Amino acid sequence: MRRRRFLQSVLGTSAGLLGLSTRFARAASTPAAQAAAMKFPPAFLWGAATAAYQIEGAWNEDGKGPSIWDRFTHTPGKIEDGSTGDVACDSYHRYRDDIALLGALNLGSYRFSIAWPRIQADGRGSANLKGLDYYQRLTDALLEAGIRPLATLYHWDLPQALEDGGGWPNRDTAGYFGDYAAIVARALGDRIRHWLIFNEPKTFTGVGYWQGRHAPGRKDPLAFVRATHTVNLAQGHALRALKAVDVELQVGTAFDVAPMYPATPSAADRAAAERWHRFQNLWFVEPPLHGRYPAGVLDPARQAELLGWRDGDDALMRAPLDFAGINYYSPFLVSDAPQGNGVPGLNTQAQWAKAPGQNPHTDIGWDIYPQGFHEILVRMSQALGTLPIEITENGASYNNAPDADGRIRDEARIGYLRAHLQALHRAIGDGVPVRAYHCWSLIDNFEWARGYTQRFGLAYVDFARGQLRTVKDSGRWLAGVASGNAL
Ligand code: FCB
Repeated sequence: MRRRRFLQSVLGTSAGLLGLSTRFARAASTPAAQAAAMKFPPAFLWGAATAAYQIEGAWNEDGKGPSIWDRFTHTPGKIEDGSTGDVACDSYHRYRDDIALLGALNLGSYRFSIAWPRIQADGRGSANLKGLDYYQRLTDALLEAGIRPLATLYHWDLPQALEDGGGWPNRDTAGYFGDYAAIVARALGDRIRHWLIFNEPKTFTGVGYWQGRHAPGRKDPLAFVRATHTVNLAQGHALRALKAVDVELQVGTAFDVAPMYPATPSAADRAAAERWHRFQNLWFVEPPLHGRYPAGVLDPARQAELLGWRDGDDALMRAPLDFAGINYYSPFLVSDAPQGNGVPGLNTQAQWAKAPGQNPHTDIGWDIYPQGFHEILVRMSQALGTLPIEITENGASYNNAPDADGRIRDEARIGYLRAHLQALHRAIGDGVPVRAYHCWSLIDNFEWARGYTQRFGLAYVDFARGQLRTVKDSGRWLAGVASGNAL
């Protein structure tokens, strides 16, 4: 789309908006409102996040191999609306539109992910130059627009060939991941200075290998436990690969964390909530920082056997990260499960997106609980020590459609973001060293097992009509917050 037409579509057709600058202005505020504004620290970065499989499309173009998500979505019955990411938001071809959107929203950081099977079609061997070229072009265009690239090496799209060879439960996958990280760092490390190794390690291992709701769709608790160990080894390999290219690269991982509340005040439920906290929030944090797993999670007599532990793994897992990414959506409600849950020793049952009391929820059904954001930030910062934190995801699904005038009035998302930013502001005031906030997501996209039934974007995507992107009211609102660096 020509730049002018694109900007018109983004800015909406309202006469008042057309012809204004490409950036949304901060709403005029009175001196009293300014005095009351919640300021964020100087140099705080405002951004938005996406992931390759959820937005790129072009699933088999330019030498890309199939990923586990291609296989999974092409298998009938796996995705709520029967959809796939074959085309998604077509960002592989429209990345310039996405970057113009970031500019229009006054956002200074873009978190995106690199699709491993674009770089190595079957997860091994030499690099596919066309795949690398795409990310070089994307990165150069971001830098030209003055936007910091923050690249995730793995946002869930394992090359299918590696899954056929055993996937994440197979320890060899860690070595292949290290090789992939080295290729990417050599090609892009000169221009991308901030990296995330994994997105949500607990979720892609748990939901993919234990619950089977996500690719590759396995339901094998013991394979899942093995997968967690391979991922921790891979995290160490990847960090070393990146630092070997340039020791100055800033490397983290995006951990999805949540407060764990006991379902009842019983001692058994309280102990279960603590086990679940260590498992869900610390299982991928203590290995890189301390070279060990949190105690009191797996049956200690069987832990080494369950993980496939080998001598020296403590050193391999250790990966002194430069910062931590935090994704937050909702809390868990946890109860003791003496009957077991397939993972020896864990004996818990957890309900996602449930906090004490009756909470409102977003359209995807996840509880809205901003206080939990503050709580978990404080708790995680105790575990992370002085490590700087970037919020790598936070956001809400609301399925507002455009009104007759084409405007998307998503007041509920504004309310969600405001409440969570207030909680974040409070956490920063309490000393939690947060330096960036990325909203999930820049644009509506393919929401995994929920397909296109859930819209998380700051901009609406009209998938049926030429992928037209239109900034929602929430996007305008966040643009104001970003430009004023204040709520
Ligand atoms: C997170 C994922 C992200 C997106 C949001 C809604 O768990 O990392 O890709 O699906 O949830």
